[in-house]
Amino acid sequence: MSRVDIRCSVDLPVNVLMHAEGGKGIAEAETRFTSLSLNGGMLQFRPEDGLDNKIVGLRYDLPRYGEFEILGEILRSNDEGTATRFYNLNRDAKLKLWDFIKDNLADELSCPYCGKENTHKRRECNECGWNLNFYSQDYIIEHEKESFLKRVAAKSEAFNLEDIYKVLNYVDVEILKIGKNFDINEEFVGSSEDILNVFSMIRKVAPTDIPVLITGESGTGKELTAMAIHERSQRKHKPYVPINCAAIPENLLEAELFGYEKGAFTGAHSDKVGKFEYAEGGTIFLDEIGEMSLKLQSKLLRFLEDKFVERIGSTEKRKVDARVIAATNVNLKSAIAKGTFRKDLFYRLDVFNIALPPVRDRGDDRVILARYFLNKFTKEMNLARTFSSNAIEAIKSYDWPGNVREIINKVRRAVVMAKETAITPEDLELNISSIEVDAVQSLREVRHTIEKQKLIEAMRHCNNNISKVARILGISRPSVYSLKKKYKV
Ligand SMILES: Nc1ncnc2c1ncn2[C@@H]1O[C@H](COP(=O)(O)OP(=O)(O)OP(=O)(O)O)[C@@H](O)[C@H]1O
Ligand SMILES: [Mg+2]
Repeated sequence: MSRVDIRCSVDLPVNVLMHAEGGKGIAEAETRFTSLSLNGGMLQFRPEDGLDNKIVGLRYDLPRYGEFEILGEILRSNDEGTATRFYNLNRDAKLKLWDFIKDNLADELSCPYCGKENTHKRRECNECGWNLNFYSQDYIIEHEKESFLKRVAAKSEAFNLEDIYKVLNYVDVEILKIGKNFDINEEFVGSSEDILNVFSMIRKVAPTDIPVLITGESGTGKELTAMAIHERSQRKHKPYVPINCAAIPENLLEAELFGYEKGAFTGAHSDKVGKFEYAEGGTIFLDEIGEMSLKLQSKLLRFLEDKFVERIGSTEKRKVDARVIAATNVNLKSAIAKGTFRKDLFYRLDVFNIALPPVRDRGDDRVILARYFLNKFTKEMNLARTFSSNAIEAIKSYDWPGNVREIINKVRRAVVMAKETAITPEDLELNISSIEVDAVQSLREVRHTIEKQKLIEAMRHCNNNISKVARILGISRPSVYSLKKKYKV
């Protein structure tokens, strides 16, 4: 296998500073680098056996580039010498080091990655495929990218599925900054295909000004999505104004949204600026839009058409630049059929629809979410808690009708209630008996939940062997197949 780093042979004096034996201060040894790369170097010297602290300081003069003093660690020591790795070389030092390595490579006849001979005039090694065009201006950037990908590829073999999700999630959340800078300090967690698709829709729609309609069951993250869009838009330094249309009676909602003039009605003692005007330059989030009265729907439609608002009691039109994001957990198409929602408003809002999948359709995200909140609450409460393997199984087989909010509540409760460090299904209230007493579920739902749970358990227990599953559950093989189909197991 070829190296992921370029190294050149050198003979360069270096001073190594390390902890003296028995904690007696710092010891310094003079030795030489026999090779150098961007990430470390090979030293001639071998430290005494049993060096208990592997961190070393390395001080050396790079001819023409000046003195370097960097911290590193000893990776291994053998007959060839001692391999060291540099910590956190800054950009400037790295570029200098690269210039030095490049100059020293000039004389090398072989590929610095794989050792194949006579490659010094080639642009690419035909053995290992690495780019050898050292004198191109972008070489070092290309090299860093290429070696980064190879390092990740080599490490990823040891990843399990959850590690992969963590990496993907890290990329989306940390690097692409989804969910950052919220004042509520919440992050968007998840790596299932559907949720990655949601992340990508958020990224696409955020920089535009088009209205967005967010749909999804209760607790699926509609509000979080609205905030994520605002945070990733050019409007992020302007107000984000959420308003829940279901929580406020109709006449008050009109005053809240559009404001009023002094004297517009009894009790209007002074002018009131509405939420639309507050949201000037920013975003207004109309939550539970399905609950809005038809009268207000037509006022909203007018706003979407011409961007003017009229305060109650005034005929003056005020121009407002506010982006509208709306959310609902009711099916607006059936509301249209029932005559409680305007079709024309629906089409105005539905220009860009983000449909949040229920947690039960997000595969292993339920475990990732549960672990995320476990980590969060244990830190907040300063408690040591983990999930027992039974708890993980229970999390996997439960349907989570209350979606992410239910995960949050159950995990929070479990962290507080657990008697042992390992949280059990009972702590999470995910044992069968708690499902049975859950008053909001119909008998049919309870049966479905239990049937599905038992099927999943049996499939796992029998390694997906259908005949064994049938025997364990006391049903026929065709019945197992039809249950599998019914519950999409
Ligand atoms: N993917 C996610 N990652 C992390 N936290 C999430 C995720 N989705 C939702 N949450 C959290 O779950 C809770 C519920 O989310 P949110 O309020 O956005 O849901 P909603 O769809 O608006 O629910 P409702 O319809 O009941 O208003 C919030 O605390 C939110 O921060
Ligand atoms: Mg909400």
